Amino acid sequence: MAGTFVLLRSVARYPNATSFDLEIFRSAQRVNLAKGITGRLHKESGCFFHYLEGEEEALQNLLERMRQDDRHFAMQELQRGEFEFPLFTNWDMGFCKGNHACIRQLLGSLPFENAAASVAYEIIGFLADQTPQLSLTS
Ligand SMILES: Cc1cc2nc3c(=O)[nH]c(=O)nc-3n(C[C@H](O)[C@H](O)[C@H](O)COP(=O)(O)O)c2cc1C
Repeated sequence: MAGTFVLLRSVARYPNATSFDLEIFRSAQRVNLAKGITGRLHKESGCFFHYLEGEEEALQNLLERMRQDDRHFAMQELQRGEFEFPLFTNWDMGFCKGNHACIRQLLGSLPFENAAASVAYEIIGFLADQTPQLSLTS
């Protein structure tokens, strides 16, 4: 079950929860299941944080498609590595709503755009602890 993981951060073209998020959720869940890719997509304060794990080639193909996607921009890899056992059993998506602290708390005073590799493992831990709730009301 060994493979590659990445933690990505990108800026959402549409900062609030929109029907675009539902589209991403629906197609990604179907494709990722078929490709054996697991992980979490989290949207907060206009940014996407995305942890993906799977077979390296499948992951690379997905990353190339995602780079062409104009529903987000400035996609950056905060962390990449190898795993022996996957952290997740599926792929899902969650939002941080209203005043809930979420990733903001992990970053302290760092602006979202500068969240560095130094906080990557804290973010991954946060995503692994979350029970995602898909809600399109902000
Ligand atoms: C933030 C974000 C995360 C995405 N995550 C995935 C994903 O995990 N899996 C997936 O298949 N598509 C994901 N997509 C959608 C892809 O970018 C792309 O639209 C989809 O793979 C279809 O690509 P194609 O039109 O080239 O076939 C994501 C898009 C965005 C904006």
